[in-house]
Amino acid sequence: MTDRLAGKRIFLTGAAQGIGLAIAEECLKEGAKLFVIDRDGPMLGETVARLGTDEGALASAQADISDAQAIAAAMAEAGKTIGPINALINNAGINVFNAPLETTDEEWQRCFDVNLKGAWNCCKAALPGMISAGGGAILNIASTHSFTIIPHTFPYPLAKHALLGMTKSLALEYAAAGVRVNALAPGYVETQKNIDYWNSFPDPAKAKAETLALHPGKRIAQPSEIAKAAVFMISDECPFMNAACLVVDGGLSVLQHAV
Ligand SMILES: NC(=O)c1ccc[n+]([C@@H]2O[C@H](COP(=O)([O-])OP(=O)(O)OC[C@H]3O[C@@H](n4cnc5c(N)ncnc54)[C@H](O)[C@@H]3O)[C@@H](O)[C@H]2O)c1
Repeated sequence: MTDRLAGKRIFLTGAAQGIGLAIAEECLKEGAKLFVIDRDGPMLGETVARLGTDEGALASAQADISDAQAIAAAMAEAGKTIGPINALINNAGINVFNAPLETTDEEWQRCFDVNLKGAWNCCKAALPGMISAGGGAILNIASTHSFTIIPHTFPYPLAKHALLGMTKSLALEYAAAGVRVNALAPGYVETQKNIDYWNSFPDPAKAKAETLALHPGKRIAQPSEIAKAAVFMISDECPFMNAACLVVDGGLSVLQHAV
């Protein structure tokens, strides 16, 4: 363990698995205290038991980020258990993919409730404490879908574009109060969500190979590679980084087309 995040008391969403779990592991290694939430209580319980840390470094609660009251309550509990929250990582998100004209109102609502309003609910609960303490850091896990479009993934990229807009807006509003707000945009990451996606094809191995082949380096990211970038962005190592979006996609979004 090193101490790059010593003194950080982080509220992290969607920590039961995937990128959120990897961020939890890296933050604990770097000396942070963590309050983790997930809507899947049983899976979160198993994850927290597996992470097994020193007394007092890790606490958790089952909560759905789309429920503003539940988030306000979880933020208050976090303050009591690990101390006033000075860093927030909005990681929880869901894929809602369809063709635009086939998208139902329920899909539209669910996508925006979680991927945009959910992050706002957490910002709204965390910001007053950060402002009155004289500063803090917020990191929104965006996506390359925040600035590019894959056809038939509607309306997920719309919500991720808006998440980037919210990042910039809050960053400018609260910079003078010492709060930094940034976004991290992963490309493809080897998480359950993508494994489920490949498994939805008749030949999952072929589907995965096709995804890898899109990439200049012919591979996708491991969750830990995203988590290490998150540690840097939430740490005090980049105090002038604000309203920024760091892309971690192996170069995919810069590629015009393969030759
Ligand atoms: N995996 C990728 O390739 C990829 C790429 C770019 C961006 N992202 C983004 O990274 C983040 C994490 O993705 P992942 O691939 O690790 O996903 P994942 O599905 O593996 O894990 C997401 C976690 O968030 C939780 N969650 C979902 N909705 C929630 C809610 N309403 N309230 C609380 N918890 C909730 C889930 O239970 C789950 O444990 C998401 O915001 C996603 O959009 C992922």
